[in-house]
Amino acid sequence: MAVLGLVAAACFGVDRRLHDEIALPAVERGWQVAITLTPTAERWLKASGEYDRLAELADLPVRSESRLPGEPRPHPDPGTFLFVPASASSTAKLALGIADNQALTVLCEALGDPKVHVSVCPRLSEAQAGHPAWPGHLATLRAAGALVTPVSPDQPWTTLLDALPVAGTHRP
Ligand SMILES: Cc1cc2nc3c(=O)[nH]c(=O)nc-3n(C[C@H](O)[C@H](O)[C@H](O)COP(=O)(O)O)c2cc1C
Repeated sequence: MAVLGLVAAACFGVDRRLHDEIALPAVERGWQVAITLTPTAERWLKASGEYDRLAELADLPVRSESRLPGEPRPHPDPGTFLFVPASASSTAKLALGIADNQALTVLCEALGDPKVHVSVCPRLSEAQAGHPAWPGHLATLRAAGALVTPVSPDQPWTTLLDALPVAGTHRP
């Protein structure tokens, strides 16, 4: 079974849409989902009750914390990562290689490995996109071979699964 590394940040809608529009359809399509949340996304999902639904769905633990050095790795290494929704903050950190939480640690390592496909779906406001560094972050991610597909509030997220590259093929 192919492993999908599903990473989510604290964006509008994540607490309502991550399970129904991404995680569940991914499992139904045959992916084994390895879910990693930013610390803020974890807090939101625990507050909304969605965290428990995600934990019940996935046969791998939902993570947001790093393991201790002597602990086993809780997730296998995914051949494909889907980062949705990707916040302005975490997308910027990914482009800069700032791995200051577990979600960014796995994403930064994946981006540095040309054998791994990374799909990044930013969800942000006009003001956030207007930050002068934003176009440069997107250019960095695209130049590294990441597939960057912004999402908007009125667009269903499930179609993002259709565009996932096949693990084992090379990045552009
Ligand atoms: C209700 C609410 C909705 C938010 N929606 C977004 C959003 O859609 N996109 C975004 O980039 N930031 C959004 N933010 C701000 C992020 O949550 C904030 O920048 C946070 O630090 C991101 O953390 P993370 O990237 O580690 O998950 C929102 C904040 C709140 C309180």
